[in-house]
This record gives sequence, structure tokens and C-alpha cells, in this order.
Amino acid sequence: MNTVWMTVAAYLIGSISFAVVMSKVFRLADPRTYGSKNPGATNVLRSGNKAAAIATLIGDGAKGWLAVWLAIHFQKQLDIGDMTIALVSIAVFLGHLWPVFFRFVGGKGVATALGVLLGLNPWLGLATLVTWLAVAFAFRYSSLAALVAALFAPFYYGLLFGADAELVAVFVMSALLAFRHSKNISNLLAGKESRIGSKSADAK
Ligand code: G3P
Repeated sequence: MNTVWMTVAAYLIGSISFAVVMSKVFRLADPRTYGSKNPGATNVLRSGNKAAAIATLIGDGAKGWLAVWLAIHFQKQLDIGDMTIALVSIAVFLGHLWPVFFRFVGGKGVATALGVLLGLNPWLGLATLVTWLAVAFAFRYSSLAALVAALFAPFYYGLLFGADAELVAVFVMSALLAFRHSKNISNLLAGKESRIGSKSADAK
């Protein structure tokens, strides 16, 4: 029973789109109407408001972290196992991608996935974040950094903890994240992807 309500609660937490919320707070245009039209920190940055982009990143990351941290922290009291933690991880991520509060139009999941990984284990999150930063600094493509980090995340998890239910969750998140970046992948291949800091969603 706990598994059901925890999975639903995680999905609802994930459904809070901080890109939309922070854009309202900072009195910016709706991020679903400009740039890549993606409600995420990278696109909010295209508004030119760095504080709003950082607030989006923190909010979207924190919701992923919180859902998983709560599940792990209260694991004994709630009598839940690895399977429930894995379901909570996927549910909060799915909420971000297909949010019930925003007509199921959500983001690409990068910040939320990072939050989930940090919640599962700080070293796992850190290793994935360092991978993102290394690729982002080297190539200045947010999407490429996310795709490479997503590719490595299941390997990091496997190396740290071996094969279990959470590894499947990490793998599912990585696959969905890559799927949500299909347009970015075509843009990268066509040399049309915009670099971090560019105000346009197209290469300039
Ligand atoms: O965080 C999402 C990022 O990887 C790509 O965003 O707006 O350039 O499609 P965007």
C-alpha cells in the first residue's frame, strides 16, 4: 500500500514545473513559448535571467532529490524495499516529463534526474554532475553534456552498487532522457544546436 501512495506522491511532486513557476515569480515569459520551448533551466537561461535559470535548476533538482531522499530516509518506518525506491525515482522523473499540472507538457528531465541520483547516493550524483560539467565546459552544449552524463549514470550506479531495482530505474531515466532529447540529437548532428549562453535555440 505504501508503494502506491508514495509512487503517486512522487509523480505529483515531479509534476511541479519550476521553469514555469520561476518564470512567473521572476515575471518572465512562459518558457514554453520561446527558445526550444522546453520548460527547463537551459531554456529559462535564454530569457537572459540567470537567477531564474538557477532557481529553476535548483527547484527541479530538489524535487527529484527530496522524493528519493524521503523514501530512503523513511524506508524502515514505511517498510518499503528497493522496488519502491526505484518506483519513486521513476515516478518523480515521469512527473517532470509529463506533469499532470501542466497538461502533460513537461521538460527533458536533466535537473530532476540529477536530483534523483543525488538522492540515491551523493557520490553517484556527484560523478554524474562532474561528467555533465566536463562535457559542458569542453563543448558548451547543455544537451550533449546531459546525454553523455545520462549514458554514464547507469555505469556509475552499477560500479558502486551492482545490479538491483534502482539500477533499472537509473537506466529507464537515462533512456527517457535521451528520448526527450531527440530534437537536440538531430540538431547536434546537423550542427544546429545552440551553445550554453546563446539566447537562441538555434546555432548562431
Ligand atoms: O536541460 C535540457 C537541455 O539538455 C536541453 O535544453 O532547451 O536546449 O532543448 P534545450
